[in-house]
Amino acid sequence: MILLDGKKVSEQLLEELKVEVEKLASEGKKIPHLAVILVGNNPASETYVASKIKTCERIGFKATLIRLADTVEEVNLLDKVQELNEDPEIDGFIVQSPLPKHISDDKVINAISPLKDVDGFHPENLGRMALNMPAFLPATPYGVLTLLDRYNISTAGKHCVVLGRSHIVGLPMSLLMVRNSKPGNCTVTICHSKTVDVKSHTLQADILIVATGQTESVTADMVKEGAVVVDVGISRVADASKKSGFRLAGDVKFDEVAPKCSYITPVPGGVGPMTIASLLKNTLEGVKRKIH
Ligand SMILES: NC(=O)c1ccc[n+]([C@@H]2O[C@H](COP(=O)([O-])OP(=O)(O)OC[C@H]3O[C@@H](n4cnc5c(N)ncnc54)[C@H](OP(=O)(O)O)[C@@H]3O)[C@@H](O)[C@H]2O)c1
Repeated sequence: MILLDGKKVSEQLLEELKVEVEKLASEGKKIPHLAVILVGNNPASETYVASKIKTCERIGFKATLIRLADTVEEVNLLDKVQELNEDPEIDGFIVQSPLPKHISDDKVINAISPLKDVDGFHPENLGRMALNMPAFLPATPYGVLTLLDRYNISTAGKHCVVLGRSHIVGLPMSLLMVRNSKPGNCTVTICHSKTVDVKSHTLQADILIVATGQTESVTADMVKEGAVVVDVGISRVADASKKSGFRLAGDVKFDEVAPKCSYITPVPGGVGPMTIASLLKNTLEGVKRKIH
């Protein structure tokens, strides 16, 4: 079993991005500038956003954090989005989810210019991605793709089973795996909460990508010998032996599944670090106008 070390690969990616930023700076070109809108102060969002900003600074990007109260009116958030769409200094921006209940995710996503949508959530980017046209790819699936690529995992002709069909992970992940590209060219099965007998599908997977948010629900009896397993899930599980009182766990029961796998991602240290690196890669690619 080989560990798909997302921490290591993301460090390599960030180093590569840093070199590219230094080159842009030495040529007097524009330094990538990412803006993040954070509404309210959800503790998990605070952590993610702080990490994104810190990583930007580490590799030489400019980063701007825009904080709005969780009572902000939807119209005022949409105005801020429009302001960033029109600001030539900002190359890309994201609106951190989750948003308060009184704000429509769809309205906000649709308001972001596809040219600055470095989270890759806008329908135009999703459509372009599905059609194998240049697009901002959603950061988490993009990170998984890069991880598979850097480990030279062969995907063509393989059966990939994706658990989960969310718009930010499962659905784009399955589209990326079925595309005629490398990595890609898989035969893809997508399972969701209404799928009958999920195990009968997972047992056929050469590549199993799990993004259900159901902690440690994928067990050894559900996995084929020699499968590649990518665990996107991340959640907190109470653990009195830890100082923090919790440990991080994925959607896969790692200890029992890992011995059956050819490759598997750990949690933490697998997909998570790849997500931030992919967001920043999108931002740089946007600056270099590789995307649209
Ligand atoms: N590491 C990272 O960077 C990163 C990034 C994003 C998300 N995540 C994590 O990834 C996980 C999934 O995130 P998400 O945003 O995609 O979650 P989500 O929006 O809650 O979607 C979960 C998906 O899983 C499906 N599902 C639920 N139970 C299932 C089951 N037993 N079998 C098969 N499918 C099932 C749901 O089906 P229905 O559509 O029928 O409801 C849904 O499509 C979470 O743990 C999240 O924290 C990690």
